Amino acid sequence: MSSQQIYGDSVPAAPPAPKHGTHAKPETEESEIVHTQNNATVSGAHPLLFKPMTLRDITFRNRAWLPPMDQYSAFKQDGMPTDWHYQHYVSRANGGFGLVITEATAVSPEGRISPDDVGLWNDAQQNTWRWIASGIAAAGAVPGIQLNHAGRKGSSGDFTVGFNNASVPFENGGWQTVAPSRVPFGSYAIPNELSRDEIHGIVADFRNSAARAVAAGFKVIEIHAAHGYLISQFLDPLSNVRTDDYSGSLENRMRFLIEIVDAIREVLPESLPLFVRISATDWAQGGWDLDQTVKVAQVVKRHGVDLMDVSTGGIVPYVSIPVAPNYQVPFAAEVRAQAGIPTTAVGLIDKPKQAEKILRKGWADAVEIGRAALREPSWPLHAAYKLGLNRHQAPYPPQYLRGAYRDEK
Ligand SMILES: Cc1cc2nc3c(=O)[nH]c(=O)nc-3n(C[C@H](O)[C@H](O)[C@H](O)COP(=O)(O)O)c2cc1C
Repeated sequence: MSSQQIYGDSVPAAPPAPKHGTHAKPETEESEIVHTQNNATVSGAHPLLFKPMTLRDITFRNRAWLPPMDQYSAFKQDGMPTDWHYQHYVSRANGGFGLVITEATAVSPEGRISPDDVGLWNDAQQNTWRWIASGIAAAGAVPGIQLNHAGRKGSSGDFTVGFNNASVPFENGGWQTVAPSRVPFGSYAIPNELSRDEIHGIVADFRNSAARAVAAGFKVIEIHAAHGYLISQFLDPLSNVRTDDYSGSLENRMRFLIEIVDAIREVLPESLPLFVRISATDWAQGGWDLDQTVKVAQVVKRHGVDLMDVSTGGIVPYVSIPVAPNYQVPFAAEVRAQAGIPTTAVGLIDKPKQAEKILRKGWADAVEIGRAALREPSWPLHAAYKLGLNRHQAPYPPQYLRGAYRDEK
């Protein structure tokens, strides 16, 4: 697909050759006997998809997670989450997800992807997020938040404001974007180059938003370092052509990310996990690749990051991406194996047995179900049924037990 707009629709292409990490250790749990309601046992083994997982002091009830998905629904253009966000996230928590990660949430007004993006830079936003985080937790899921600065991909259009795949003019709520260098994304407006003081200001914004996220009740923070937004603009040599010590060597290009990791760890309790979402490749010649991703994973791990959420693409438009089921799984497997850090896999994973296989092969520690969860908020409840769990083993809210999946044949 073209990554002109990474969150737009994609056209499936031919599947890539299967490939996986050679050192990944498969997790097995073969002994448990499952009493099924629908006779659909999984080789007599308890599905790993529904095996709890613990990072630091936080236990996820299963490994089917909701990835961040921008809703473009802060309709007053004030960064405030709305009723839409409450029902969207809480219904997926009721649907059985183990972790619900909110969409890219901006650390400042200029950090938003579109004028209708949510943020977390003031008290009113913090109070509204508290309502949502508490709704997610009450439904048994762990509430997580993705923090983002959009950089040169900010001030872009969405379904409310229009200007699809283009910069939004000032009179429609747009703003002057910023980036490591004055290199635009495709046909978007040219960004201003950030000064060193401005860079330090954005690091402080991440710290402040993280402190607000903790106060609002989030138990996981994910730093958005993927998809061509500001942090990945620093990482990638195609978008970062500065001449100071934030550019050049990989060590320099990852400096901004490491400063953000350290700043967030200062305000995040030891008991809570920190994730980084990264694009493992930008699918472009001379750009970001798996080797650099593995090196970054090794470094952030030493700085207190607990899991890498492995995606791809988004830094440059018009590249060809071999989109197909599992197409990003090999990257999650390699990062897990080579950097020795837990990973999640994401990208066209929508079948329960497919998800289960990814975990059994040791390619990732958890899977994220994105677009499939937009059409099916209770994807995990259905998956539990398909993998042979009875309704008492599946993550039903007690109020919904009488509506549990039964024999579909
Ligand atoms: C509507 C929509 C919005 C998205 N917004 C975000 C986002 O805010 N942050 C992010 O990291 N990824 C975002 N993504 C990417 C998803 O998290 C996920 O990686 C991608 O959809 C591939 O997974 P899937 O095939 O299961 O949908 C978005 C995807 C969609 C469809």
